[in-house]
Amino acid sequence: MSLSRRKHRRVGLLAAAALAATTVSAVAVNAAGAEEHPSQDPAEIAQAKVDNPYAGAQVYVNPVWSEKAAAEPGGEAIADQPTGVWLDRIGAIEGNDSPTTGSMGLKDHLDEAVSQGADVIQIVIYNLPGRDCAALASNGELPADAIDRYKGEYIDPIVDIMDDPAYAGLRIVNVIEIDSLPNLITNVAPRETATDNCNTMKANGNYQDGISYALAELGALPNTYNYIDAGHHGWIGWGDTNPQYDNFHASAELFGSLIGMNGATASDVHGFITNTANYSVLEEPYWEVDQVVGGQPINQNPDVKWVDWNDFNGELDFAQAFREELVSNGFNSNIGMLIDTSRNGWGGADRPTGPSSSSDPATFVDESRIDRRYQKGNWCNQAGAGLGERPQAAPESGIDAYVWIKPPGESDGSSEYIPNPEGKGFDEMCDPDYQGNIRNGNNPSGARGDMPISGHWSSEQFQELLQNAYPPVN
Ligand code: BGC
Repeated sequence: MSLSRRKHRRVGLLAAAALAATTVSAVAVNAAGAEEHPSQDPAEIAQAKVDNPYAGAQVYVNPVWSEKAAAEPGGEAIADQPTGVWLDRIGAIEGNDSPTTGSMGLKDHLDEAVSQGADVIQIVIYNLPGRDCAALASNGELPADAIDRYKGEYIDPIVDIMDDPAYAGLRIVNVIEIDSLPNLITNVAPRETATDNCNTMKANGNYQDGISYALAELGALPNTYNYIDAGHHGWIGWGDTNPQYDNFHASAELFGSLIGMNGATASDVHGFITNTANYSVLEEPYWEVDQVVGGQPINQNPDVKWVDWNDFNGELDFAQAFREELVSNGFNSNIGMLIDTSRNGWGGADRPTGPSSSSDPATFVDESRIDRRYQKGNWCNQAGAGLGERPQAAPESGIDAYVWIKPPGESDGSSEYIPNPEGKGFDEMCDPDYQGNIRNGNNPSGARGDMPISGHWSSEQFQELLQNAYPPVN
């Protein structure tokens, strides 16, 4: 960190303490009422942060998304919901009029948040070198070895903008690097699911280097709240029932290994987020994962492919259990979880209304489950999905908020290859005719057709999400 930045931070901290009404001040006030110099002690900075930044907070509404949502039939009903602001490339920091971010850069969003009177803004940090190593639809602009560019041209400028005293009264939630670290457990050799790109990222260590750098630099600001992406239960929910594929404990351990790298401390991590841009349900209302059907617990029955030995049935149990596991890997005992509920509602006419009466375990599960994907590894533009729970603070124990980080209506990837200047590839998992690969158990992709490249708008998808919302949108 440069000297000038240190100095700048000090000013930022003072202003933060003065402006952030709901924040416990880390600044000592002497008898005459004058503020003494604030400490740069990370422990004090961490203490200045509130436990749950969402509690009682008004959360920023991104006008770029809101305008698109409001223009859709019926969209007005949800256009005032807060959604994530994705900094999905270096150019998005300044705002370069891209189809995903519009013309607003980070500073524009922060200014707008101040003028909305918002308490919280949700920024997605998403530009790792070798991004999205197990898939192609969201590959980014930085090649696998571009770690210096990530730090110097992406993270540093973001930190400088967020450090402006004008934003000291905002709690800035940073959602850090979707779909990255768990890939280094599940999609690397010797697993059959390995990809060359994930093997490369495991070997070069640039995911850990980049994420720990981001945590340390962003976490040093007094008003930032870092939540690291932790995949979802259909990705790393395997552990106890099938220790042969232990993604659960191994992923938590990998996250724990970030502590100490690049100066990142446990206090630079406010929590974790699950299900970002995914479709996994919060809970299956009509069956338990270890329920005995046909004489055997469902999660130990090889015929029940939907469960396939997973320990969990939904995001809520998973997030709560993973929280505990993260704490036992060195994170602070008061970390909180976020769950992205933007597209995990699975309502509409095809939603089951009760448990199946079948005594055949596989049929029972398939007829009872509300998540109607072919398989939990399916992630691209799932046909039939609906909006999930509306964003809300502290819905359950250990959960800081349900959030909409993936803005509903924005594509996960194109249905066929579309040349583009964003580094986005074409992933067959987004082709509705694709019959799958080992990472989704060779099932159909379940994707919608005619979709644009990731991040671009689809009226059809937006309308289906609205129609199949659960709870329904009135
Ligand atoms: C895309 C990003 C986009 C984000 C939000 C990702 O899949 O790669 O470009 O900003 O989704 O829609």
